[in-house]
Amino acid sequence: MIENKKARVNVVDLKARLAKIKAMRFPSNSSSKIYGEDNTFIFSKSYNCFEKNIIRGTNHFIFFPEADAGNVVFEVYGDNNKIIIQKGAKLLNTRFVIKGSDNFIEIKENCRFTSCYIVNYSRGNKIIIDNGTTIEEAALALGENNFLSIGKDCMLSAAIDIRCGDGHKMLDLSTGEQINKSKDIIIKDHVWICRAARILKGVTIGKNSVIGVGSICTKSIPENCMAAGIPATVKRENVTWQR
Ligand SMILES: CC(C)(COP(=O)(O)OP(=O)(O)OC[C@H]1O[C@@H](n2cnc3c(N)ncnc32)[C@H](O)[C@@H]1OP(=O)(O)O)[C@@H](O)C(=O)NCCC(=O)NCCS
Repeated sequence: MIENKKARVNVVDLKARLAKIKAMRFPSNSSSKIYGEDNTFIFSKSYNCFEKNIIRGTNHFIFFPEADAGNVVFEVYGDNNKIIIQKGAKLLNTRFVIKGSDNFIEIKENCRFTSCYIVNYSRGNKIIIDNGTTIEEAALALGENNFLSIGKDCMLSAAIDIRCGDGHKMLDLSTGEQINKSKDIIIKDHVWICRAARILKGVTIGKNSVIGVGSICTKSIPENCMAAGIPATVKRENVTWQR
């Protein structure tokens, strides 16, 4: 077991450190802990949340040397989880809760999150959020072996829910089979998701489309349209949008 509570915090020379560091160290008065073995936690100088983080298990890789992260908390269990937050990304009030193994999350360059909750209770999920996407306030929930892709320059408003999985099984009474299996969600480039919209399992949203306030998307939506309602249906075609 490795529990590091003493060493310095700032990452000065990332490359040199990457070769050496297998577990990042938190300030001695921090309540955060890294347990397990072969865990790498590399954070940027701007990282200011040394409370509440818990890393358990082995071979996790949490890496954001050049991103801004304010009040970002990681609770990572299982094994082999990777969270990479790329250069220029700015994350505030964001919580990663990962309880399964072999999950991969990449938040690419210049993304901006004001408040985000990423929850991942199972294994083999992959989340990629592409360059320049902004999230005001969202919960992203994964199922098992799912891919959640959010393209470039998407704009997610507040109170957004994106759920590849339902969190609990619904079963067919006669066969005992699970009806509500989790599925991938693909949001293509430059999609605007308006306030309090929900995107459910199996949905693809085409590029440049807009999902109206309070809508629930249960089926895929083509590109360049505005869809809204419960369930969301196409209300306008041949549109795009600007920030
Ligand atoms: C999606 C949106 C931008 C579309 O604007 P718009 O094209 O001017 O919409 P309209 O009011 O002309 O509505 C067009 C049609 O869609 C329907 N519609 C629009 N938004 C809807 C919604 N959220 N739910 C259900 N139907 C909706 C309208 O009833 C109308 O239907 P009709 O043609 O049968 O009469 C707007 O409805 C919206 O959701 N605004 C909220 C934006 C927001 O959340 N901003 C927060 C900051 S990111």
